[in-house]
Amino acid sequence: MNLKEMLLSLSMIMFGGKGGVGKTTCASSSAIWAAEQGRNTLIISTDPAHSLGDSLGVELNPGEPTKVPYLNNLTALEIDPKKNLDQYSHLMNLSSLSSMEIPGMGDGLPIMEELQDLTAMNPPGIDEAFALLKVLEFLETKHDYDLVIFDTAPTGHTLRFLSLPETLSSWIGKLLKIRMKLGGFFGLIKKLFTSEEKREDTSLEVLERLNESIINAREDLKDPLKNSFVIVMISEEMALTETGRLLNELMKYSIPVSNIIVNQLYLEEEELCDFCKARRSMQQRNLMKIEEIFKNKLGKNLIKIPLFREEVREESKLKEFSKFLID
Ligand SMILES: Nc1ncnc2c1ncn2[C@@H]1O[C@H](COP(=O)(O)OP(=O)(O)OP(=O)(O)O)[C@@H](O)[C@H]1O
Ligand SMILES: [Mg+2]
Repeated sequence: MNLKEMLLSLSMIMFGGKGGVGKTTCASSSAIWAAEQGRNTLIISTDPAHSLGDSLGVELNPGEPTKVPYLNNLTALEIDPKKNLDQYSHLMNLSSLSSMEIPGMGDGLPIMEELQDLTAMNPPGIDEAFALLKVLEFLETKHDYDLVIFDTAPTGHTLRFLSLPETLSSWIGKLLKIRMKLGGFFGLIKKLFTSEEKREDTSLEVLERLNESIINAREDLKDPLKNSFVIVMISEEMALTETGRLLNELMKYSIPVSNIIVNQLYLEEEELCDFCKARRSMQQRNLMKIEEIFKNKLGKNLIKIPLFREEVREESKLKEFSKFLID
């Protein structure tokens, strides 16, 4: 499937790649195009260093979905890890019980070991884990969007993000197990340590529902009829190796990839200066390798985009950019 077909038929598309290559630009421009075709589109930035609002030329408050004023059918959201952390923090409280002395529970109890295990599992990016949880939960409930586009953070961060459903699922699985084992006793200590409101939220059903959302979302991410990851790269040796690594990782998670965007290419123009000519021949050399590996060997669709004279942001430039993405 090419990008145009994907924008018209899939329900989720993620844009990712190395830092600064044009992920946000490609994601915003694609979202604008899809919305113009009548698809109710939501674009979400999962990069903590947000630039989605700047790209679209719209003021966004983290955590608040905002309608893009110049276009029907387009809503933008920059996720706010802090906000979600608050919402889910009671789940964390549960694991922090392990560091407390609970009367009557000796050292050797398997429950304590599991609780400790659980605390150790809290990854450093737990705030982002909960932000993702929130997004996954949202995707798995009924909503009005035909298409959700993800503008992701640079590679390393995004890969951690994609591995989070596994981490979260096993984390919640453990919580569920502990909840069941502790049963009535847990009810008692819970009363001691949590407020009325939190007590309701940490119910078994909430955890079970969360776990189900994660499992379903994980399946959706792997379904080529629902989701695809679009890699954005530039024509440089380093980008080539990094793209290879990213592709490998995505394959490991069974996330479909069929399109690779090669951005910021110098076109063949008579008036190129010496410097630009040198850049251009460097790009052409790498482009041959990119075509050889990603197109011929791996069968990916390559989308080539020229380097614009100006920064590519806000409505008119992003629309101009989308012509290259689609044609
Ligand atoms: N083809 C292009 N021609 C000219 N400028 C471009 C092109 N593509 C992107 N840009 C510009 O390059 C800059 C970086 O683009 P963008 O923010 O989309 O990259 P990114 O990969 O999202 O970066 P980050 O890793 O920081 O999130 C922006 O100023 C954007 O306008
Ligand atoms: Mg970006």
